[in-house]
Amino acid sequence: MSLQTSSEIDIIKAATSKIDQVDFEKLTFGSVFTDHMLVCDFRNGAWEKPVIKPYEPFVLDPSAKVFHYGQAIFEGMKAYKTEDNSVWLFRPEENHLRMNKSAVRMCMPEVPESIFIDGLKELIRLDEAWVKNGKGNTLYIRPFMIAIGSGVIAQPSTQYRFCIILSPAKAYYSGDVKVLIADYYSRAANGGIGAAKAAGNYSGQFYPTQLAHNAGFQQIIWTDDATHTKLEECGTMNVFFRINDTLYTAPTSDRILDGITRKSLIDLAKREGINVDVRPVLVDELVEAAKNGSLKEIFGAGTAAVVNPIVGFQYKDEYFELPKLEKSYATDLKEKLTNIQYKLAEDTFGWTV
Ligand code: COI
Repeated sequence: MSLQTSSEIDIIKAATSKIDQVDFEKLTFGSVFTDHMLVCDFRNGAWEKPVIKPYEPFVLDPSAKVFHYGQAIFEGMKAYKTEDNSVWLFRPEENHLRMNKSAVRMCMPEVPESIFIDGLKELIRLDEAWVKNGKGNTLYIRPFMIAIGSGVIAQPSTQYRFCIILSPAKAYYSGDVKVLIADYYSRAANGGIGAAKAAGNYSGQFYPTQLAHNAGFQQIIWTDDATHTKLEECGTMNVFFRINDTLYTAPTSDRILDGITRKSLIDLAKREGINVDVRPVLVDELVEAAKNGSLKEIFGAGTAAVVNPIVGFQYKDEYFELPKLEKSYATDLKEKLTNIQYKLAEDTFGWTV
């Protein structure tokens, strides 16, 4: 290991790289991590100096608040390598902003740009060889923050750890995705933490999603908690519906995450001249559209999965198959978005960094 210090970040390089042990053609999403990680602790009311060091386990007190009260938030981002071997991030400032919104909601300290953005760039520079070029290859970036203060009293921690880990990734889902529309469980509630990227929002989905898996579905389309009449998110993604030629998606709210892929697709679709209607979409409307043939597509949108077409949905006891389209909005928008991300098309929005 060699130690390098700058005024902003300490860097301890791994003595050897694990990269030769990795088969980049056979990657299970989120299971392989690069040689280094960034760690920065918050103590005594201030962020300490961040350190980039070899990827390794943490040692934490068993009473650390993250273990008991789930005071934990995260982000999902990606880096892309272009044909000229340069590495690009996609709208990283949006992830930084959202991380800090989540932090406020979860009573955690905000992370400064010098740690989140500059630290991330430094980390990626060090592990650049892990970003493979070619469309479909990405480096999934997982910034997260946990409460590390000890003591099981149920109140916010005074100590936190911010960390960034990196994982080479290909597709998130493989195979067809059939979904179940939730008529009992919900992902989030008004006044709750659904708009934050809080760990508990995801673990709360595991049980209903497991029930859905047992019934033959890969994901759930979440509906509003109060009435279960409005379609909100799909699995861990935002969700879009195409009825005739209009694209619908729910507005963000306390219950719906402000997805960066979601907002990028809305902008791209509008630029392509597609009519986009951001408004609550009703379960009844979807069922009716499926019955009368005007429902053309449903797709999920998120960083990990990018754009994920849904092949069919079940509501109560009825299953509806979606048509197989020659030219779908999902395929077209995904192509346009990834072309920008891999610098294969001009980035007129100024999204790539
Ligand atoms: C992402 O798309 O980055 C997410 O946060 C979903 C994650 C649970 C894999």
